[in-house]
Amino acid sequence: MDNNVDELAEFDKKYLWHPFTQMKDYVNDQPVIISSGKGVYLTDNTGKSYLDGVSSLWVNVHGHQRPEINSAIIEQLGKIAHSTMLGLANEPAIMLGKRLVELAPEGLSRVFYSDTGATAVEIAIKMAFQFRLHQEIDDSIKETGASDIVKYKYVKTKFICLENGYHGDTIGAVSVGGIHKFHEIFKPLLFESYKAPSPYCYRCPLGLKRDDCGMACADEMEKLVVDHHDELVAVILEPLVQGAAGMIVAPDGYLRRVWETCKENDVLMIADEVATGFGRTGKMFACEHEAVTPDFMALAKGISGGYLPLAATMATEEIYNGFIAEYEQQRTFFHGHTYTGNPLACAAALANLEIFEKEHTLLKMQDKIKLLHEKLEPFNELDHVGDVRQKGFLIGIELVKNKPLKVPFPLADRVGIQVIMEARKNGLMIRPLGDVIVLNPPLCSSIEELDKMVEITKRAIIAIT
Ligand SMILES: Cc1ncc(COP(=O)(O)O)c(C=O)c1O
Repeated sequence: MDNNVDELAEFDKKYLWHPFTQMKDYVNDQPVIISSGKGVYLTDNTGKSYLDGVSSLWVNVHGHQRPEINSAIIEQLGKIAHSTMLGLANEPAIMLGKRLVELAPEGLSRVFYSDTGATAVEIAIKMAFQFRLHQEIDDSIKETGASDIVKYKYVKTKFICLENGYHGDTIGAVSVGGIHKFHEIFKPLLFESYKAPSPYCYRCPLGLKRDDCGMACADEMEKLVVDHHDELVAVILEPLVQGAAGMIVAPDGYLRRVWETCKENDVLMIADEVATGFGRTGKMFACEHEAVTPDFMALAKGISGGYLPLAATMATEEIYNGFIAEYEQQRTFFHGHTYTGNPLACAAALANLEIFEKEHTLLKMQDKIKLLHEKLEPFNELDHVGDVRQKGFLIGIELVKNKPLKVPFPLADRVGIQVIMEARKNGLMIRPLGDVIVLNPPLCSSIEELDKMVEITKRAIIAIT
């Protein structure tokens, strides 16, 4: 495509509507139109290069234009681009399913594909709900001796989610979301769920220190689970890090406590690893840090190395068996997306996972995580940095107007946006979450590249605040 720079910008403003973007502002700026990428760099159509400081929205793992992933897609393209998974299979989807089961926490043994994080979550929600319904039917048959029940009582219909949680933008995922700014507006469309307090960092409403706060939040969660276990389907959470809330890191032990609470009360647990999965926290999956095997794990983003839309909902054999029945019993999971298990995306994902193994990506990350920690430490001394949070490569730097009182900047100041625009001028592409500056570099970034990303971010924060 050889459209000239101005013409493309004009068409962009004229024909497109960008996600999470106030288009009134967007059309007043010169858009950045990315035309290529290599390693951890993006290049726009004027030839300017930028470090990809947020991995193209938390997805890129081993860099752009990885020859192995490119070749895997091209090779698959020479066979077939797509065929349906409804009643049919394809080779890359099968082999990827096997690999995911090998890598996931032991006990997660089934893979159901879709294409985005939100769909992976929707599927977990619906599967969990239907699984409980089948149990209700079985119990009722046992009790009444009837051969089947006609009317469901719908005993278990409720979910517990966390304040500040984010699971995607479809209606089911929003129903278990807890970010006021994104979710409140859709309230009349949502199913109701119980909200447990999120383990805050410095913002504990009870004024507790970090670890005490984590356990106080776990106590609150336990109370909710115990009080409502009769009507509960599942607890859903982002393990270890609430990403979209501003990279809020849970205190050690919180995840495991919640998992144990769920098990003790026969409530299912859905771990949304869409942001934390595939190495971002320093292990393949965040659940591994606390030896947790949830009943469901939602995966997307890094699964295909940041190449193609692909997601997977993993479930245990117990859940899977709950759907196995005679055809006429209608226990099929009636859910599916057209591009489910797309062979090109699965081939890319297989190549992505092979690179993890071949290059010892997780091992090599450990020193880089330490370096990032050291480099981020001095940010705490900056006048307007209220908190610096890090788990692995997931980093959030929260900017505040008044540091001792943790008073935020007024929205109209657009401080987060100004900082990322300043960084952009200096060759780093990042995106804020409100006034939290997010860094989430590709896992392949070198020490020098990470250093540069942190330095540009620091200079941008100082310049703007
Ligand atoms: C934890 C979590 N779940 C779900 C999603 C939604 O993923 P997608 O945008 O692919 O639908 C996100 C996206 O950021 C996420 O961070």
